[in-house]
Amino acid sequence: MSKPKVFVTRRILEPAMKMVLESCQVDLWPDEIPPSHEIILKRVRGVNGLLCLLTDRVDAAVMDAAGPGLKVVSNCAVGVDNVDVPAATARGIPVGNTPGVLTDATADFTFALLMAAARRVVEGERQVRSGGWKSWGLDYMLGADFAGATLGLVGFGRIGRAVARRAAGFGMRIIFSDPNPAAPEPGVDAAQVDFDTLLRESDFISLHTPLNDETRGLMNAAAFAKMKPTSVLVNTSRGPVVDQSALYDALHSKRIFAAALDVTVPEPLPTDSPLLTLDNCIVVPHIASASWQTRQKMSRMAAENLIAGLKGEHLPNCVNLEVYKK
Ligand code: GLV
Repeated sequence: MSKPKVFVTRRILEPAMKMVLESCQVDLWPDEIPPSHEIILKRVRGVNGLLCLLTDRVDAAVMDAAGPGLKVVSNCAVGVDNVDVPAATARGIPVGNTPGVLTDATADFTFALLMAAARRVVEGERQVRSGGWKSWGLDYMLGADFAGATLGLVGFGRIGRAVARRAAGFGMRIIFSDPNPAAPEPGVDAAQVDFDTLLRESDFISLHTPLNDETRGLMNAAAFAKMKPTSVLVNTSRGPVVDQSALYDALHSKRIFAAALDVTVPEPLPTDSPLLTLDNCIVVPHIASASWQTRQKMSRMAAENLIAGLKGEHLPNCVNLEVYKK
């Protein structure tokens, strides 16, 4: 029997890539730059499976271009906002993602960003490189304290809770807002508050929400106006959750103290973005889950979802379980 046809929009890490190559007839996009939507539309024609990354827009047009033989979309990411999940569900196509394995790496990196922004690590390093550092000084490069400070988590799912566990070790008070929080894990002392209270009371705000109609532009001018002038914002969720022009104004006018963004609109952020002119803003290239083991595990989960879907089996991690109820 011939192997199922799949389009893989970027090489995944070994040994997962080998698993896919062994069980499928693979069309592998070879570049580091993702295929455009037009290219995806062409390359998916007649495939049985699609293994994609968060950089690929997989909409109804892509599913229709693939045709009725498409049995699975496997997204190598936990977030699936790049995939039109309702369109997949309507076509009976299961969509896979990679939850859990990136929780710790993302929470670690969130903490790295919180500390870097609060304690001006990147700004300080720039001073050293540029010769701007003239002398040790009592009031030089002062930043925010962690012990006793309030951390506000917007979204209290797996990653939000993992950040909370780290924050507890730093002696922080933890509050969170989430329309639908999973039960807090034992040992994490965290209080649920409404979003407005979180904005007003937090010294640090970290975003851990999926991107959807409710969260798009959630951090806007009105939200920044409610935050403390000493507060720090970190975003490791999705770029569109933050209104970047409002964030620029809030940082430039010192309405808030600092921000660190792992995710932006667009990605890559153009080098002439106004945000990059600010000393109190750190921008890094969407790398919160980029640790060796994590990316290997994500690759393996994506390969397992793909292969299960091609065999007509339930995906080990499926975001639209409704497809199995039909
Ligand atoms: C990364 O941003 C992911 O959603 O996996």
